[in-house]
Amino acid sequence: MRSGSLVGSLRPVAQHGQIFLVPCLGQPGAPFAFVAFGSLEECHPLPFGGQRLGQRGEWSCVFHRLVFLAGDPGNRIVPAVRLGETEVRSARPVAFRTAMSVTILVGGQWGDEGKGKVIDLLADKVHMVVRSQGGNNAGHTVVAQGKEHRFHLIPSGILNPDTVCVIGHGVVVDPNAFLQELDRHQAEGIDTRNLVLSERAHMVMPYHPVLDKLGEEMRGDDRLGTTWRGIGPAYEDKVRRIGFRIGDLQKPAFLEKKLRFVLRLKNETLTRLYGADPFDEHAILDEYLGYAERMDPYIRDIYPIIQDALQNGRRILLEGAQGVMLDLDLGTYPYVTSSSPTAGGACTGSGIPPSRVTKTVGVFEAYTTRVGYGPFPTELTDALGDSIREIGSEYGTTTGRPRRVGWFDAAVARYAVATNGIDSIALTKVDVLDSLDTIKICTDYVSKGEAWDHPMANISHLKHTDAVYEEVPGWKTATRSCRSYEELPDACRAYVARIGELCGAAVDMVSVGPDREHTLVRRLPL
Ligand code: IMP
Repeated sequence: MRSGSLVGSLRPVAQHGQIFLVPCLGQPGAPFAFVAFGSLEECHPLPFGGQRLGQRGEWSCVFHRLVFLAGDPGNRIVPAVRLGETEVRSARPVAFRTAMSVTILVGGQWGDEGKGKVIDLLADKVHMVVRSQGGNNAGHTVVAQGKEHRFHLIPSGILNPDTVCVIGHGVVVDPNAFLQELDRHQAEGIDTRNLVLSERAHMVMPYHPVLDKLGEEMRGDDRLGTTWRGIGPAYEDKVRRIGFRIGDLQKPAFLEKKLRFVLRLKNETLTRLYGADPFDEHAILDEYLGYAERMDPYIRDIYPIIQDALQNGRRILLEGAQGVMLDLDLGTYPYVTSSSPTAGGACTGSGIPPSRVTKTVGVFEAYTTRVGYGPFPTELTDALGDSIREIGSEYGTTTGRPRRVGWFDAAVARYAVATNGIDSIALTKVDVLDSLDTIKICTDYVSKGEAWDHPMANISHLKHTDAVYEEVPGWKTATRSCRSYEELPDACRAYVARIGELCGAAVDMVSVGPDREHTLVRRLPL
């Protein structure tokens, strides 16, 4: 920061993104003053100049780029700057704010695209990360500073102590799974004080996983391959208006009364339809009221928190779980999850209006995977598929199941781009293809002699469709040591460019390995 050093503090009322007019005392030639706070990344370099305004040595900055000082996400202490001999004694905000940004991140395929890694990379550049749908059916692994962290419900933004992490009301929360995850992160020394849980989020109740499993068994060959985490049954109850919300934990009398009624329905189904054991009302009450005590500090109405962030121009990241093709409406129904992992779902699940969204990032693997059943036009069921599965460690984070593997499907990706307004792509696991002589990309489908450029709604047609491929040369070079997009082999860059072209969106990030440093950022999609 030129010759400046930090002294004292301004007023603790400063808001993230505000720029301050700084009256410098003495030294009229002092080049500028400063301000703003957020993440360190934005500080380097500090290409701003100064401009003399006003009288008595009042100066304000002309920013070519905003300056963020490390470790202050706003509202707390704002460092003042000593410019040579000129001490900044006070400052007042001018009516200028950073451009607010709301970035939605969605999985563009059938989940497991490596979203966690991209979220982790963006999370320390935003003030708030919001999870808006799904539950502990999701799972992602983030490797930070050589250490592996697993996430199911809690946003991976929690690795940054300054990031506010919100579990939004579109999520279904299994309190037991939540507390276990919280304990694990706390035991690893992660600071969880900035975690917020919406009181409107629904809860997975003990009978939901049981009904999930029994329902799957009853479907026999037509089973969906769910994660058995009770996610579908919890969303069913939400829609049926017999669900329990997190806020109900703070109303024991209401919880008890409602549970008595709901359990009559559930036990009837369990015993008469499935021949299973009924649940005991008092046991559930004891268990959940026990959770209530521990969860209490995190439970909040997130409406004012989100509105405050929007009004103060903060950077918000909405982290999606699962993927577009698992969406209840847009996906391969009924082989889908029970929520909306799309940009639209992110808005309803958080309460952020679509008009405030500034960017939608789609995360895609450089090939395709899916767990569970359902159509998968580019699936590789041969030794090549097995080899990609092994190289890419394609086993579920939540259930450990082997993932089905196939070529990149641009018909799916194009559909995801179009239905979500994806304007930036993160392409992950490119290094998994390093050893291949040639690589296929599905550009379109042919079904009953007819060409299709997107997945059809009729899943039995989709199941029997023929993928149209183009074959491109592999690069036969290890890419993991590349530290910039330009360092990638020519054939690899050609593959990435072709994917962007077929999907209709820019590939802004390319990942060639599990660590943060393996993500090659061409443009930061914030
Ligand atoms: P459910 O979400 O457990 O009901 O499972 C429904 C379908 O979504 C199954 O095919 C699951 O394998 C799939 N699914 C759910 N969560 C994920 C995920 O995080 N990654 C990939 N597939 C998922």
